[in-house]
Amino acid sequence: MAIQSLTLVSFRNHEKKKFNFSRGLTLIWGENGSGKTAVLEAIHILSFGRSFRTHKQRDLIRNSDDALAIRGGFLTNRISDDVAAQVIRSSGQKMKLNGKILFGRKELIGRNNVVVLSPEEQSVTKGGPVERRRFFDKMFSVSSPDYVDTLQTYSRVLKQRNAAIVQVKENRCPPEDLHSWDDQLVKTGQKLWLLRYGFILEFKNHLKEMIERYDNVIQFELSYADQAPSLESYKNEFKNSLKKDLALGRTTYGPHRDDISLIWDNRDLRNFGSQGEHKLSLVLLKLAEMSFIREKTGTHPTLLLDDLFAKLDLERSKKIVSLLQGLESETGEPVQTIVTTTDLLNVEQSGLLKGEKETKTYHLER
Ligand SMILES: Nc1ncnc2c1ncn2[C@@H]1O[C@H](COP(=O)(O)OP(=O)(O)OP(=O)(O)O)[C@@H](O)[C@H]1O
Ligand SMILES: [Mg+2]
Repeated sequence: MAIQSLTLVSFRNHEKKKFNFSRGLTLIWGENGSGKTAVLEAIHILSFGRSFRTHKQRDLIRNSDDALAIRGGFLTNRISDDVAAQVIRSSGQKMKLNGKILFGRKELIGRNNVVVLSPEEQSVTKGGPVERRRFFDKMFSVSSPDYVDTLQTYSRVLKQRNAAIVQVKENRCPPEDLHSWDDQLVKTGQKLWLLRYGFILEFKNHLKEMIERYDNVIQFELSYADQAPSLESYKNEFKNSLKKDLALGRTTYGPHRDDISLIWDNRDLRNFGSQGEHKLSLVLLKLAEMSFIREKTGTHPTLLLDDLFAKLDLERSKKIVSLLQGLESETGEPVQTIVTTTDLLNVEQSGLLKGEKETKTYHLER
């Protein structure tokens, strides 16, 4: 896919800006606080309907302005999309796809995919189960309409069942009222689990391949069972959890509680990993994500590299660039890449600028 143009009005520190991106490589450079990550954030919102930095949409509006507007032109699989988002301080976010108002994000998700590799995403390896689940759910959602559908239904029924649990707990409803939610939740939960198990199994292979290409002495893997619980065992566990559910006022068993942990050298990365190990594992996860989405959708997502080469030694930078080039040569299809940096020399030394890629450069001032 390719993003062709982007305009920002009153977005973060940007008053008004326009970008035209290269189909190959676009470099955005500028000092700290000049708004580089903000540009990638805007692209991410137009791709996925949400920021990767915050869920508070009003924080994105510049200073005390009343509203922000961002707009992007995309070309994916020969289909061009015009995507616009607006956040009004008094009424919140609205999005349009080709002039049509969007209700929800389902229509948007998966159309113009991006993968962000930013220090702000480090919580995928450093954070708790929620952050990691979000990483996988997002990748699987953009790759499969069935997955988004099931995930959205599951989340909705879960919310309703949790509300009903609170009612029962406070003696405002009889416990039998939970039954109808229980059946629906277990049914969609089982489907979600089956889809997730299947995708994780596939993702594991993409990750393994990426690691082998990087350096096969690295031992890095996901820890997640190979098979979803059977419907029978799901039902049993679910029933056995009722007492706990009522005590805590929420559903305690199901796919929304999955913990997909990352194991580095036989130790839990989250608790034992060094800074460098965290950084490298995020790179490997994200490049495996590129390869996964490519396989599922038939086209590479746009890669947004936020300050990747800062604090990374030359040898590692070069290896990462060669992994990226591996993705391209394997499919014979370029990967549109947008890179931010405070230091152009860093990027140049990484070898990213070598080759025949069309390159565009933007300088941002504070
Ligand atoms: N709502 C807002 N209104 C005005 N300025 C904002 C708003 N939100 C963030 N900023 C400022 O915008 C600037 C740009 O932030 P951003 O994270 O994009 O910078 P950056 O170029 O990526 O910096 P770094 O190199 O340090 O990562 C920062 O100075 C930040 O404080
Ligand atoms: Mg930044």
